[in-house]
Amino acid sequence: MNENSAALPADLSAPAAPWWRSAVFYQVYPRSFADSNGDGVGDLGGLREKLGYLELLGVDALWICPVMLSPMADGGYDVADPRDIDPLFGGLAAMDAVLAEAHDRGLRVTMDLVPNHTSDQHLWFQQALHAPPGSPERARYIFRDGRGPKGSEPPNNWPSIFGGPAWTRVIESDGLPGQWYLHIFAPEQPDLNWENPEVAADFEDTIRFWLARGVDGFRIDVAHGMAKPAGLPDMAHPEGQFDGDTLVVHDDGDPRFNDPGVHAIHRRLRTIMDQYPDTVAIGEVWVDDNVRFGEYVRPDELHLAFNFRLAETPFHPDRIRAAIDNSLCAVEAVGASPTWTLSNHDIEREVTRYGGGAAGQARARAMILLELALPGAVFVYNGAELGLPNVDDLPESALQDPTWERSGHTLRGRDGCRVPLPWEGQRPPFGFSTADPWLPMPGLWSALTVEKQLERLDSMLSLYRMAIELRGARPEFGGSGLEWYASPPGCLAFRRDGGLLCVLNATESPILLPAGEVLLTSAPIRSRKLPANSTAWLV
Ligand code: GLC
Repeated sequence: MNENSAALPADLSAPAAPWWRSAVFYQVYPRSFADSNGDGVGDLGGLREKLGYLELLGVDALWICPVMLSPMADGGYDVADPRDIDPLFGGLAAMDAVLAEAHDRGLRVTMDLVPNHTSDQHLWFQQALHAPPGSPERARYIFRDGRGPKGSEPPNNWPSIFGGPAWTRVIESDGLPGQWYLHIFAPEQPDLNWENPEVAADFEDTIRFWLARGVDGFRIDVAHGMAKPAGLPDMAHPEGQFDGDTLVVHDDGDPRFNDPGVHAIHRRLRTIMDQYPDTVAIGEVWVDDNVRFGEYVRPDELHLAFNFRLAETPFHPDRIRAAIDNSLCAVEAVGASPTWTLSNHDIEREVTRYGGGAAGQARARAMILLELALPGAVFVYNGAELGLPNVDDLPESALQDPTWERSGHTLRGRDGCRVPLPWEGQRPPFGFSTADPWLPMPGLWSALTVEKQLERLDSMLSLYRMAIELRGARPEFGGSGLEWYASPPGCLAFRRDGGLLCVLNATESPILLPAGEVLLTSAPIRSRKLPANSTAWLV
């Protein structure tokens, strides 16, 4: 547990900071975490069996990617019923069991909610397809007539994030092509019309449904989406959705996102969350401008918002420092807590981003110490604690990300960061399942299993465990500020208010550490010299 939730505040009259401000969250991608029923796909029963592992790792809270009823066109981000759990994951009973057992172990549980769109199999969308243009059923989504002769052109030039146009034309009851519906993601993910009060009311039902079952909060998918600009104007630059295999790169001028109308939605959400003490709403907010980003975490909106700067940053000291400064600056003005993450289920894994191989591992070790030294909430994506690399040579026949099909087989998409976790043994599926896993696992991962890494003090997993424990136990991690220290070229050094000194050596040669007791290093030191590509904590 972190210092705020574990210890009584020194001044008993002062309220303790909320638990989520400095929590370590662990992101579970359920399909890839652990399979309990032998179908090759991870599930909630598997997660429940591994809660002891997460307790051992020392995290405070879980973020469980979507487990609601879904045809899985986008790995569960296409929700057919937001108030039910998919049988693939074990149904509602399995979720209740995870909640109860996680709480018994002192772990909080947050769920992923997807308010921007539903599945095309959602009852509402099926009703909309069978209802005429202009009907109340269609008014829950964004249906428009097409442009051009006979309306045969999409209503505007917006592309879908996964490639191809963001509009699909439907066949009307007369058997002829008719209106178009908007889907910023896959055609199986029609965008909801948030101007329709029914949509907001249904979302409120969903929030209350899960909070009443004991969920501690939500990760809000595409929290900078939902509201759309009046008239749905064309985009200035409709090209470019992906950067390599990494999703969602769009600039702040993109009319598909970050419409000011979204803030009223978050304020409404907050009034409900406030009725359930100690809960948290964390937004996925891909907004670059610091002022506009900060608007999402004003005191009456989201509690936290993901800042992706660090996750987008290569292992370069100036870039890392700029990412940290920017992330701190973005929340400072509104008094919110920063958030940090090195990767997630949409982004290339950090070991690979930092160059792969031994250097990639060393840099990932350095970066987790740097990240855990920062003030604010930290999000760890499952498998990062094992140092898993991206799997960039998955056979084409195995690829499942909609991007692969939508891009005409030119972009492989995000499956490479979603390969299941290796738990034990010498051969795939390494205890993940008893069947073939839904994505093939590299044989070389026999060296990266949880079993192997628990045995070794110098493993990535042991480093995570030690670092998370120290972060929660030591007073030097207190306070919300940090101060940069002068450091040699290629290095970074900052001190936390509580006294922790964090030094990163991003050069290719060892550097002499400053004075102080060494608490932890990401690589062994000799004669007080911190090796290349490593980080030290001193007090
Ligand atoms: C978010 C999710 C991503 C999903 C998309 C559409 O960006 O993180 O995985 O594909 O939303 O719901």
